[in-house]
Amino acid sequence: MEESTAYRQIPPTTLLSPAPVVLVSCAEAARPENRNLITVAWTGTVNTKPPMVSVSVKPSRYSYGMIADSGEFVVNLVDENLCRAADYCGVRSGRDVNKAEEMNLRWRPAEGMRAAPALEGAPVSLSCRVRKHMELGSHTMFIGEVVAASVREDLMDEEGGIRLERAGLVAYNHGLYQRLGETLGFFGYAVSRPEVYARRMEQAGARPVFELKSARYQAAEILRAALRPGDRVIDATMGNGHDTAMLCSLVGPEGHVDAFDIQPAALKATEERLARLGFSARAALHQAGHQEISQYVTAPVKASVFNLGWLPGGDHTVTTRTETTLSAVRQAAELLLPLGVLVICVYPGHPEGRREKAALEQWLASLPPRRFNVLAQSFLNAGPDAPVCYTAQRQPHS
Ligand SMILES: Cc1cc2nc3c(=O)[nH]c(=O)nc-3n(C[C@H](O)[C@H](O)[C@H](O)COP(=O)(O)O)c2cc1C
Ligand SMILES: C[S@@+](CC[C@H](N)C(=O)[O-])C[C@H]1O[C@@H](n2cnc3c(N)ncnc32)[C@H](O)[C@@H]1O
Repeated sequence: MEESTAYRQIPPTTLLSPAPVVLVSCAEAARPENRNLITVAWTGTVNTKPPMVSVSVKPSRYSYGMIADSGEFVVNLVDENLCRAADYCGVRSGRDVNKAEEMNLRWRPAEGMRAAPALEGAPVSLSCRVRKHMELGSHTMFIGEVVAASVREDLMDEEGGIRLERAGLVAYNHGLYQRLGETLGFFGYAVSRPEVYARRMEQAGARPVFELKSARYQAAEILRAALRPGDRVIDATMGNGHDTAMLCSLVGPEGHVDAFDIQPAALKATEERLARLGFSARAALHQAGHQEISQYVTAPVKASVFNLGWLPGGDHTVTTRTETTLSAVRQAAELLLPLGVLVICVYPGHPEGRREKAALEQWLASLPPRRFNVLAQSFLNAGPDAPVCYTAQRQPHS
């Protein structure tokens, strides 16, 4: 016999995971002001046309009577902000406490419902009318037709597309609430063309496979490790907007990117790229030299990114220059939050790049270690002209 993976038999169980976890809102038909929330993980999509979802509820739940009598319920998706409330609403009964009040939750009217309300702030709310119910044993499954659906405005992109990957949805994984993580692919990616694959993965903020590849790649790795949704950052050399777009994706809809370039062509390329990706609202594009950064940005930032040199595909004589670069990196260092990073890629393959590299190394090496840790990443076997990535991180308590 061939060697095979070992398994252990366990008693039959519903180990179907991850499950969605939702907050179902409902109300008494006769007294709609009496409203309740129940956390439900036994929920699923059961039909497309008409759109139908199911929720399985034990008859002992307080919510059961409300759903059965009113013939209505609203499925509210749960994001990280609602996660604690979802747990609370799953371990306390509306018979004993007013769960919405206890968790500071507010209601909003649900389109298409007579009594059941929607939950204010939920990323998505589905108004459901009960079409069938099935007593299955421990639970009764209510099959609801979705008669109306609403999506929080910040989850819509400029083209009217729904960007649910930005919602920070929570999955229920065998007793644990877990944040949805990295994008591994998209519907049909197994057969998509390479250019479609690249665009869609960038749009979704997917983390590429780790490769020890280039200075720019090292810079991106550092930024992915350092940045969190909601951060404010600077792209000091916008160019064609690849870095601006990556930063927009890392800081998310709550974050902000201030990007600089002196060339109108760079602003145009970046503006178009951000629009294509649905990131326009996350960035302010300044046609200004980065040596003027502190005139535009006064609030502290989590990162400043410099990708020096010239605009790829543009005029090679318009390049960053040692004096202005030094002035800009000094200002950028002053704007860093504790644990913030200054990430610089320099290209010593041309005379001005060589001067920039020497001047930057001198300045970076002089930074006081109690304020900054400074790292140089260079490819030792790629020759003296190979690009180098420098990172200076502000010390946590400096
Ligand atoms: C993560 C989680 C998932 C749950 N899923 C279900 C479910 O699918 N069906 C159900 O009847 N109860 C489920 N519960 C339990 C109810 O939410 C819980 O009994 C709640 O207190 C009932 O509230 P009520 O009495 O106000 O209706 C779940 C609880 C948690 C924490
Ligand atoms: C290598 S490119 C940047 C590439 C870009 N980060 C990207 O992802 O596409 C360098 C850019 O710096 C710009 N630049 C040159 N001097 C500048 C200055 N003083 N302030 C801001 N940008 C400058 C150039 O116009 C060029 O577009």
